[in-house]
Amino acid sequence: MTTTQVRGVRTTAAKIAELARRREVSRQGTLAAVDKQHAKGKLTARERIDAFLDPGTFVEVDALARHGAGNYGDDAREAYGDGIVTGYGLVDGRPVGVYAQDFTVFGGSVGERVGQKIVKVMQRAIEVGCPIVGLNDSGGARIQEGVASLAAYGEIGYHIAQASGVVPQISLILGPCAGGAVYGPAATDVVVMVAGTSHQFVTGPDVVKAVTGESVTFEELGGPAANAAAGNVHYVAADEQDALDWVQTLLSYLPSNNLDEPPEYPVEIRAVADDLALNDVIPDEPNRLYDMRSVIGHLVDDGEFLELQAAFAPNLLCGFARLEGRTVGIVANQPLHLSGALDIDASEKGARFIQFCDAFNVPIVTLVDVPGYFPGLAQERGGIIRRGVKLSFAYATATVPMVTVIVRKAYGGGYASMGCKHYRVDANLAWPTAEIAVMGGEAAVSVLFRRQLQEAGDSEEVREALVAAYREEMCTPYEAAERGYVDAVIAPSETRMEVAKALRMLRTKRKSGPARKHPNLPL
Ligand code: HXC
Repeated sequence: MTTTQVRGVRTTAAKIAELARRREVSRQGTLAAVDKQHAKGKLTARERIDAFLDPGTFVEVDALARHGAGNYGDDAREAYGDGIVTGYGLVDGRPVGVYAQDFTVFGGSVGERVGQKIVKVMQRAIEVGCPIVGLNDSGGARIQEGVASLAAYGEIGYHIAQASGVVPQISLILGPCAGGAVYGPAATDVVVMVAGTSHQFVTGPDVVKAVTGESVTFEELGGPAANAAAGNVHYVAADEQDALDWVQTLLSYLPSNNLDEPPEYPVEIRAVADDLALNDVIPDEPNRLYDMRSVIGHLVDDGEFLELQAAFAPNLLCGFARLEGRTVGIVANQPLHLSGALDIDASEKGARFIQFCDAFNVPIVTLVDVPGYFPGLAQERGGIIRRGVKLSFAYATATVPMVTVIVRKAYGGGYASMGCKHYRVDANLAWPTAEIAVMGGEAAVSVLFRRQLQEAGDSEEVREALVAAYREEMCTPYEAAERGYVDAVIAPSETRMEVAKALRMLRTKRKSGPARKHPNLPL
């Protein structure tokens, strides 16, 4: 079958038949992709959309669009749709704008028409206030279309920036994505990759070899593990279905837009026997490790925690959960990594997540066990002064309800940066195990009692006695409670109910800052 229009069509029946023919050509075009994609362990663009949306809800837009420009030489490929399927549908009954690139047509590359199709979906999503989900499988700017391709990416980039903070934007990387196919997703809220079949890089291995002389594999350069460790990816899925399922779950935690509240699944919460488990989490020895995920597991509804960027800055946990059936964003130090200290990566991870929550009306619950900022030459040279401050800046500029629970250490800059009262967190709670001080006992004694220790011949016994006295006097929650810097000291077992009550009280919080265009976040 060709795409050439039948000449001399006059009757209505013939015109309807001609429409059916064109639709069939359009459908056949993408069916041809099936074998190629399946051979690579990937789904086709249409299969992906079908697997993602509620059955039968997809409404395609621009199915009959074709590229109209560019130097394609003798290549007569004129696929309807131009290598991308766009439209909208429902996920769990809520509208979503969606586009899916077809790698079998010019490598899923983006030319003028593809760009127009993506932008049309984005504009509508911004106007109606629904999330945009991009299924990316693309070699980037379509070489044959030259500057028109760059213009298309410029338009897409502009609209991603316009949609940012207005509607959730989620990007799935489902094939070998390069150039513009990765710059765009990087500016969206969440990026998902798939183990084994997806790669992303600014330039591929061949270009790297030519420019820098480095020989690298696809996997080393742009595999999911490499990207996850770099913080470019929020979730690495086992396969495409897992990726699509994960995004559906993510959307269930988010509102459709910045003027909506996240969906609610109301449950009545009451104290239960399991709450007592929190009383046993903190070890008696101050430097013993424990898994902060166990605190989160006992705190949130059904113990369900949708963690983001698990492989990046694992010393700070970020993710979504629910309390009383309502979404909360969890930010928590993880003592299992770097003793929970904050480094550059953790600061940027936390700041970005707090901004994400704040943009979409998600209250933030912070769990603190932080010995401070991670010291060292590498961190200082890496710019921890400028980059570390992003975390406290994000708390200070957020206006959603915020609750902080100090479970153990809250030392120095860590105290300040992890949602303290002074940066206008609303409810600050502390466990009796909280240690709120400028620094830990060992470090403080070395500074304060250097002379006395020298006079005592550096006696370990004297040092230990001084540390014990310091810890008993200074490393408690009570000085902070006396000053109102924590609102209440609570038993760990009371945490779930107290955090829920605080969030209930804060539900109607309305806060706006001074008039300005926007704060100048130190980037
Ligand atoms: C046109 C492209 C293409 C592109 C791939 N193809 N990329 N066609 N424009 N950008 C075509 C190939 O010619 C081939 O066509 C088919 O897609 C499959 O590509 P392969 O190379 O065979 O696939 P694979 O080996 O899997 O490698 C995938 C790839 C590689 C890593 C993506 O194709 C590649 O490196 N492409 C170029 C990537 C790149 O440098 N893009 C530059 C973008 S610059 P046939 O006919 O053989 O099937 C950019 C700037 C944006 O995006 C600026 C924003 C403002």
